[in-house]
Amino acid sequence: MTGSRLVGSGSALPRRVVTNGELAARIDTSDEWIVERTGIRQRYIAGEGETTASLATEAARAALADCGLAARDIDLIVLATATPDNTFPATATKVQHALGCNGGIAFDVAAVCSGFLYALATADSMLRTGMGRRALVIGAETFSRILDWNDRTTCVLFGDGAGAVVLEAPTSGDSAPGESAAGVLATRLHADGAQHDLLYVDGGPSTTQTVGHLRMKGREVFRHAVVNLSEVLNEVLDAAGVRAAEIDWIVPHQANARILDATARKLGIPAEKVIVTVDRHANTSAASVPLAFDAARCDGRIRPGDLVMFEAMGGGFTWGASLVRL
Ligand code: UT7
Repeated sequence: MTGSRLVGSGSALPRRVVTNGELAARIDTSDEWIVERTGIRQRYIAGEGETTASLATEAARAALADCGLAARDIDLIVLATATPDNTFPATATKVQHALGCNGGIAFDVAAVCSGFLYALATADSMLRTGMGRRALVIGAETFSRILDWNDRTTCVLFGDGAGAVVLEAPTSGDSAPGESAAGVLATRLHADGAQHDLLYVDGGPSTTQTVGHLRMKGREVFRHAVVNLSEVLNEVLDAAGVRAAEIDWIVPHQANARILDATARKLGIPAEKVIVTVDRHANTSAASVPLAFDAARCDGRIRPGDLVMFEAMGGGFTWGASLVRL
């Protein structure tokens, strides 16, 4: 059976843009190094009053407006973040209250940069089993608040933002035989806790009682990312019975333009089919996939009926991919 249908999307970015040049004025880096090694030219950084919940709420409102639904139509909110407003309660509950759809299900998912894929799979499974009719799936982050701004190997890489999609439970009519039905076609998720120390935050309530800062062994993460992503993309294609050439768009996690290129090349997919926003948004962790998706819908590239592959890899390690017919 085809899964839940993706019927709307929205996104939100902080007001303030920070260019590579501005960072180079403060730390030992250069626009040239950042562009050549990552493809990043700028990032959005949250200012006063802008939090993960406020960005998530703005993205959710835009997603609801996009498909003409009201907040009361939403039964379930799954929000992926590694930078919640508070340790608890879940940021999803804050968003639920801000939207005004109190009473349904709302919780956060922590899978760092793969968070949106984990959240999408969770919401899709819950809708398929009848736990609701419509869900908001949100990826939202304020990574600027867990960066060590003196560590040039990490602070130039990340940005803040939020993206949201509206999922609708499949109906029996969605999976008519022979029809190219819209919905989630296949999803695969993975985690390998042995790689914990390659990408982590060096603090937390149960260890240091501090928030901590992001630490990453970038070169090793890079190497694992290309291998893991290629494998999971092929798993999803096999599960859906689809050839790579049939994919209209890949919407990847936006960590590094070189990872996007290498992964597409391994699959034999032309660069024109890969949505790239890392130049504008930098790495926004769980927000990056829905932000890129919404950007490509808004500029008219991704259209109804398209076959779209989402993929991401991040701390844990966690990684996953999902193939969706719009
Ligand atoms: O979102 C979760 C997943 N995350 C990722 O997928 C990130 C994966 N990793 C990467 O994107 C890349 O590994 C980085 C962008 C983090 C780094 O690129 P790299 O080509 O792997 O560089 P490197 O770490 O091997 O560093 C090369 C050199 C080093 O100098 P030496 O040791 O060769 O003298 C670094 O100290 O570049 C230096 N360097 C910098 N120079 C200027 C590191 N950061 C900077 C910087 N500005 N910001």
